Amino acid sequence: MHPKLNIAIKAALKAGENIIRSSKRLDRTIIEKKGNLDFVSNVDKECEEIIIETILSAYPDHAILAEESGKHGKSEYKWIIDPIDGTLNFLRGYPHFCVSIALMRNDRAEEAVIYDPFKDELFTCSRGNGAKLNDTKIRVKNQNSLTKGLLATGFAVRSTTDFSPQLKAINDCLNYGADIRRSGSAALDLAYTACGRLDGFWEFGLSPWDVAAGSLIVIESGGIVTDKDGTENYNTSGSIVAGNPKIVKALLKVIQ
Ligand code: IPD
Ligand code: CA
Ligand code: CA
Repeated sequence: MHPKLNIAIKAALKAGENIIRSSKRLDRTIIEKKGNLDFVSNVDKECEEIIIETILSAYPDHAILAEESGKHGKSEYKWIIDPIDGTLNFLRGYPHFCVSIALMRNDRAEEAVIYDPFKDELFTCSRGNGAKLNDTKIRVKNQNSLTKGLLATGFAVRSTTDFSPQLKAINDCLNYGADIRRSGSAALDLAYTACGRLDGFWEFGLSPWDVAAGSLIVIESGGIVTDKDGTENYNTSGSIVAGNPKIVKALLKVIQ
């Protein structure tokens, strides 16, 4: 295994232990409001510190972009960290959230880890080597069309007040005969697309830490990832579409 992936796994597992410990005493969690339905807790901050400390003790010269503490350092290597993706789920005791860590080299993802501490599911990959769920290789589902497909999406409740384009896309997918989930963790939606639990995923209004790890895991599972315009700017544009090539093509048609 690539040593950098090993460090990412070590960091994700340590943060996961902290999440599980903290989830047993949610009443003691200190919550701050960042915006509309946007919260951060002491657990998010602690996990982020654990992850950064683990990474920097192995790679002190690397840069970091982390959701709660922002940018640290400058380097061709940059770790993109979401200490808890699905914070609202976590705070409500709804057991669907994860730790998401990606290593970028010159803005291209090279290593990725998504860890769901509740289910003890670890999604990992190194560019060019395929992706795994725990010790098993994963592949995207070979679904040909949206009909009978199982899709996931999310709502940009923090950045939008006009949901009509999103509601139209949902309406169109349902009319094609697909069913849709809204899980509250974009990183897990991508991981589930990678392992074939979902056929596809799209969302608008996301940040790099929501998608950096999951998008590489989808690609390494044989899927493709674009933004809503069909380009590769999904890490920065905020919109993402993922699935096998046929599903992405069909989703782009509906979304555009
Ligand atoms: C959120 C989750 C959610 C998505 C939001 C994200 P957070 O991340 O991924 O599914 O719909 O847009 O911000 O705040 O829980 O880390
Ligand atoms: Ca997130
Ligand atoms: Ca988060």
